[in-house]
Amino acid sequence: MNRIDLEGQHAIVTGGAQGLGFAMAERFVQSGASVTLWDMNAELLETAKEALGAATRTVVVDISDHEAVASAHEKTQADGGSVSILVNSAGIAGPAAPLDAYDISWWKKIIDINVNGTFYVNRAVVPGMKERNYGRIVNIASVAGKEGNPNASAYSASKAAVIGLTKSLGKELAGYDIAVNCITPATAQTRILEQLTPEFIEYMRSKIPRGRFLEVEEAAAMVAWLVSKENSFTTASTFDLSGGRATY
Ligand SMILES: NC(=O)c1ccc[n+]([C@@H]2O[C@H](COP(=O)([O-])OP(=O)(O)OC[C@H]3O[C@@H](n4cnc5c(N)ncnc54)[C@H](O)[C@@H]3O)[C@@H](O)[C@H]2O)c1
Repeated sequence: MNRIDLEGQHAIVTGGAQGLGFAMAERFVQSGASVTLWDMNAELLETAKEALGAATRTVVVDISDHEAVASAHEKTQADGGSVSILVNSAGIAGPAAPLDAYDISWWKKIIDINVNGTFYVNRAVVPGMKERNYGRIVNIASVAGKEGNPNASAYSASKAAVIGLTKSLGKELAGYDIAVNCITPATAQTRILEQLTPEFIEYMRSKIPRGRFLEVEEAAAMVAWLVSKENSFTTASTFDLSGGRATY
């Protein structure tokens, strides 16, 4: 494993109780950072904290509630100090269904968490990074946001929005030593897949030229570099993690 130096950094990882977010948090801790995990699942947060060690902090928060996000940020800074790294991994897939039969409340929920929630968290954390002229942000989008998965209109649209938000914010903050990038993973075997049918999961696997799913540690390896000081130039960009699926 390459050594990435995150000594002295403090990271917020949303959705960090499990899956991709947890793997990234684990890699950050191994790299010397302190981590505050944000998640709405209190029980899983406790398990994650035990696994990562006593220095890891946790905050139970629903990122789709902007007031709760602002309070979570205040608590995080008060308890763990200023935040230099932000990874937005909290998200949901929602059910698979054709657009003309897509449940409207699910559409709204997916947009509310994946798009609005990602916006609220960025909005809360960015001012401190601007004040200190330092920050590294990674938003977790999806290959679905580039290519569009059939029967996943809400999810695909939400992840395309995350890519657009990242490009906009990255350009806005390019005059600071702040990098804002996103990654577009293909399928990784995490609990988010429980929201989908086996047929849908097999469709996504069949689209990956590597012929296998992404390992969460592979995503963590890319993100660890993206949030390091060494990533001092690239911003407003999209990093592909699709095993060859995405063609741009
Ligand atoms: N696993 C994949 O195949 C895959 C592929 C591409 C992109 N992604 C994206 O990666 C991110 C992480 O996915 P994962 O596979 O680790 O999923 P996961 O279900 O394992 O973890 C997601 C975490 O987010 C939390 N969460 C959900 N809604 C929340 C909310 N409103 N407020 C706070 N926390 C909330 C959940 O409690 C959970 O712990 C998501 O944004 C997902 O869309 C996943």
